[in-house]
Order: sequence, then structure tokens, then C-alpha cells
Amino acid sequence: MIRQMQVEDLKRCGEIYAQAFPIEHWGIDWNPDNARAYLSDFYEQKKFVGYVYEENSEIVGCVFAHCKISGSKRELYINEMAVLPQMQGQGIGRALLNTVLQYSREIGLAGVVLYTSEYAPAAKFYERNGFKLSQGTICMYRE
Ligand SMILES: CC(C)(COP(=O)(O)OP(=O)(O)OC[C@H]1O[C@@H](n2cnc3c(N)ncnc32)[C@H](O)[C@@H]1OP(=O)(O)O)[C@@H](O)C(=O)NCCC(=O)NCCS
Repeated sequence: MIRQMQVEDLKRCGEIYAQAFPIEHWGIDWNPDNARAYLSDFYEQKKFVGYVYEENSEIVGCVFAHCKISGSKRELYINEMAVLPQMQGQGIGRALLNTVLQYSREIGLAGVVLYTSEYAPAAKFYERNGFKLSQGTICMYRE
């Protein structure tokens, strides 16, 4: 079952996030506490949109997003998604993504945007779900 995220869900989402992003693959030492603090920042955004997936009344997946004006358009940005490792590959991520896409259409947004690592397996997940590389956009950085 998918439902809107509540503030009480953040603790469990932190636990899931820390497991879904292990240090061996991502190089960041996530634990339930620092992951919860990180995710809380998204939750506190004014135009936050978030859902959790429950199996037997326990949260096993979550998605954090927010609505944003981008030029003349309004879009939905996905900030984070995580599914408990032992529950991955069973369609939970797709179901969460579909909920976000449906919400975006329902409120008349132009589309859904997300950033992910070129090298992360998640890119394949998004491609499988109809996302394409954004043309004409580059990501720049300096220290
Ligand atoms: C990415 C993630 C959210 C996907 O959730 P999931 O429940 O495992 O995905 P689903 O079972 O719904 O998969 C949907 C489709 O994507 C594909 N897919 C999912 N994960 C994939 C992966 N790592 N590599 C390639 N394809 C993948 C599935 O094969 C499926 O396609 P199909 O129906 O054509 O076979 C989840 O695996 C996860 O939490 N990963 C670790 C954290 C992460 O990378 N988060 C996103 C960072 S931006």
C-alpha cells in the first residue's frame, strides 16, 4: 500500500535509506540517524511531496520530491528514493515512481525531473520507467 508520508515516518525512512545506500557502493557513511537528518531537510521543504510503500504495515520504500517553478513551467523534482535491499526488484520502486508521476499529472505539472549518478544502477531503473536524458542541460561544479 502506498500512502502520503508523515513526519513520524522519517525515522523508518532513515533506516531504509542507510541500508539502500551502503558505503561500499556510494562512499558515504550513512547510518539511520544521519540519513534521517538528511531526509528531514527534504520533508521540511514548503512544497514537499512524499510517499511511503508499506508491506504488512511496515514501511519498505520511500520517495522524497518537491514541486518547483522552473522558468515558465512548474515541475516535480525527485530528491531521493530508496527501497529496502531485500525488497528491491519486486516493483516497489516503480509503484512509488508511478504515484509521483500520477500526482504530477493530476495537479497539471509539466513533468518530473531528477538527478542521479551516470554510473549508478538507478539510472537504468529510471530509463526502464520512461525517463530520458534531459537535452541541453549540463551540471556544473566548482570548489
Ligand atoms: C533504485 C530503486 C529505488 C528501484 O526500486 P526497485 O523496487 O528495486 O525497482 P523495481 O523493482 O520497481 O524495478 C522497476 C524496473 O527497473 C529495473 N531496475 C530496478 N533496479 C535496477 C537496477 N539496479 N539496475 C537495472 N534495472 C533496474 C527493474 O528491472 C524493473 O524493470 P523491468 O520491469 O523492465 O524488469 C531501488 O533499487 C533502490 O532503493 N536502490 C538503491 C538506492 C538508489 O539507487 N536510489 C535511487 C537513487 S537516485
